[in-house]
Amino acid sequence: MASQNIVAIVVAAAVSFLVGGIIGHLGTGIDTISSSDKEKISIMEKLVADKWESEEHLNHKIIDMVNTDNLRNNLIELAKFPHLAGTERDHQLAHMIRDRFLEAGFDTADLVPYDVLLSRPNRTNPNLITLEDGEGQIIFSSTYQEKPLHEDDSDPEFIHAFNAFTPAGDVRTEAGRGVVYVNYARVEDFDKLEELNVNVSGCIVIARYGKIFRGNKVLHAQERGVKGIILFTDPSDVAQEGVEAQDVYPNSWWLPGSGMQRGSTYMGDGDPLTPGWPSTAQAYRLKVEDAQLPMIPCQPIGYDDARVILEKIGGTPVPSDDWKGGLTGVAYNLGPELQDRYSNYTLRLNTHNVHQVHRSYNVIGTIKGKVEPDRYVLIGNHRDAWGYGASDPSSGTAQMLETARVLTQLISSTGWRPRRTLVFCSWGAEEFGLIGSTEWVEEHVNKLQERAVIYLNTDTCASGPIIHIPSSPLLWDSITLVMKMVPGVRDGATLYHEWEAHNVALNRTPSKIFTLGSGSDYDAFSFYCAIPSVDLTFQRDRSKYDIIKYPYYHTGYDTFYMMDKHVDPGFRIHQGCGRIASLLLKYFADSLIVPYSLQHLPEAMKDALDTFRKSGKRDKIINIYENYVLLEASLAKFADAVTSFQRQLEMRATNLDPVSIRAINDQMMKLEQVFILPAGLPGRPTVRHAVFASSQFDNYAPSGFPGISDLLYRIEELDAAERLKKEEEIKKHISDLTIMTERAASFLQDFHLI
Ligand SMILES: *[C@@H]1O[C@H](CO)[C@@H](O)[C@H](O)[C@H]1NC(C)=O
Ligand SMILES: *[C@@H]1O[C@H](CO)[C@@H](O)[C@H](O)[C@H]1NC(C)=O
Ligand SMILES: *[C@@H]1O[C@H](CO)[C@@H](O)[C@H](O)[C@H]1NC(C)=O
Ligand SMILES: [Zn+2]
Repeated sequence: MASQNIVAIVVAAAVSFLVGGIIGHLGTGIDTISSSDKEKISIMEKLVADKWESEEHLNHKIIDMVNTDNLRNNLIELAKFPHLAGTERDHQLAHMIRDRFLEAGFDTADLVPYDVLLSRPNRTNPNLITLEDGEGQIIFSSTYQEKPLHEDDSDPEFIHAFNAFTPAGDVRTEAGRGVVYVNYARVEDFDKLEELNVNVSGCIVIARYGKIFRGNKVLHAQERGVKGIILFTDPSDVAQEGVEAQDVYPNSWWLPGSGMQRGSTYMGDGDPLTPGWPSTAQAYRLKVEDAQLPMIPCQPIGYDDARVILEKIGGTPVPSDDWKGGLTGVAYNLGPELQDRYSNYTLRLNTHNVHQVHRSYNVIGTIKGKVEPDRYVLIGNHRDAWGYGASDPSSGTAQMLETARVLTQLISSTGWRPRRTLVFCSWGAEEFGLIGSTEWVEEHVNKLQERAVIYLNTDTCASGPIIHIPSSPLLWDSITLVMKMVPGVRDGATLYHEWEAHNVALNRTPSKIFTLGSGSDYDAFSFYCAIPSVDLTFQRDRSKYDIIKYPYYHTGYDTFYMMDKHVDPGFRIHQGCGRIASLLLKYFADSLIVPYSLQHLPEAMKDALDTFRKSGKRDKIINIYENYVLLEASLAKFADAVTSFQRQLEMRATNLDPVSIRAINDQMMKLEQVFILPAGLPGRPTVRHAVFASSQFDNYAPSGFPGISDLLYRIEELDAAERLKKEEEIKKHISDLTIMTERAASFLQDFHLI
């Protein structure tokens, strides 16, 4: 549905209806209307006037106003020093952002503190991986900090490499054995090892980063009796053009051998001590030992250090080439034995991480809406970084500050004011498990579910030139529309052209916006509250780089120099990001009828069911529960309900009054919430969105109906009794989904039909 057209009709019709109605009622001409009636007309016009359509010149103004020099200057300040969550610099930046909001003319801007569990290495007692020979001589000791290679990455206070929330620990192998290379530490990798009779229990394993969330790697290892895990970045993922100095940072965007990926391993979201509840002064807190934290020590290393360990592993050879990484001269043997000449070497992993409660601030700023102040259009970006964080998250912060400037300047220079309230959020402690955003959503869950129209997340705006903007299906059409308005950041006429060309190059046609996987501050908004959410990023050109992530992700080399020299010289990517953000905010803040594309919701659900059919899962499900066909039938009914809702909206466009407009918007705004499972997905109380959420076994992968996939996972390996139990859970879950889908169809009916 072309919602813009409807909006235009609605506005024209509604205003003439209202004016006509009042005039008709008075039975007289316009110039004889009393001043109180004139006021009534102007109030009515205000209530129904569609700012987005009628003020197209403002959209062009926004596009012109987003300024590359401002963005660059913002980033210089933000990425000047490391700003780890809960540190002095993080707090300084929180104040700076609050002050910028106030100076720009926000109605409010406040620091919102939470006291939350964070985790840090011990500065005076670094985490070490060592190799000792038969006489106890240390012949290798891992590095725990990147080599300084440029003045931008040389701060002596830079945080040592560690994996947040893994415990302090001291584990070692026997002489000559007990080290296993486990590829990506996925379930299938451990299965393969079992098949090859490589027993990882009691061993220290070494896994490469990539493919799945690092927390899953630690968990998989822990579940198999591993006593310690080392994570490394492989050059095949991060240094594809060579590992010599001229091939890597500071001479390119590729990662040098001492670059280490930091990152949290906590599997939940939010403060581990207050699951489901905000970490306010009143909150009950778990004891640290009762929090669901990883139990085995873990440490990240760079590929130079990984080489030293990997080249000593003997034992079982790799099962296939896809287990081999890119270290030349290394066989990537699986172990568990070391090679003969190292038969009296032992490997030791010794970590000293400390978990402690620290204060973390969110900054929340608002620009009050003129007509519907109680409807929120939100934008959020985290502020904390593992280091300098030029890409992650400061490219997003630089953009959010510019977006704030542009929209407030629009207010002061043109008299424009958004119809709905704009809320700007600078989140704290995202890197430790989306803590700031999760605590805030937990504190304000009722307000947000009642009032939030959209949540626009912006984390790493710039790590490459290609727009990648996964979102709720309800937002797909408006995102497309805005992409078509914004000039390209390379040589394309618009961002839409560049996005399409990229998809064509990848054979991904027709171009399609994805749904959200997990990984940033939209999680609580989307997966807990089912608020239509979108994640705005620009990423690498995948037709050029077949890599899992940008190479310098979460390392000491995510610096301003990296950005300015290699990733976004000229800051046009930042500019594209700021333009998209400003326009999307204005579109949702101003449109009379909120521009949701409802039809994509049942479409995307049907896509997910089609995937079950294609993969053979449907037959498997039908064998367990033949009433699965009822879910399919309900979905068809829901799709029909959407079609008729949209048709009705078009027809009723000739007599919409402010109350109906409000009611229709609310119906659409809360539609996704119909799919909330109050108790969460099976085994996942904080993931309540039953239709779109990541699957439990790969935190990065978007998927439809994750509960079904999770329950079916490895079901045939269960013994008879467990299997029966699981089958009952599947029946119940599919029945719940069916009822929710029926509710969704009913939710869109005329109000009196209950
Ligand atoms: C860090 O290590 C030092 C030296 O072992 C020790 O004295 C200190 O207590 C540790 N710090 C913390 C916060 O545990
Ligand atoms: C360690 O092993 C090497 C070769 O395998 C051997 O030459 C050396 O004597 C051993 N050292 C000890 C202390 O066992
Ligand atoms: C694997 O190793 C552990 C510890 O060494 C041992 O208890 C277990 O029985 C082994 N499993 C197999 C299948 O050999
Ligand atoms: Zn981030």
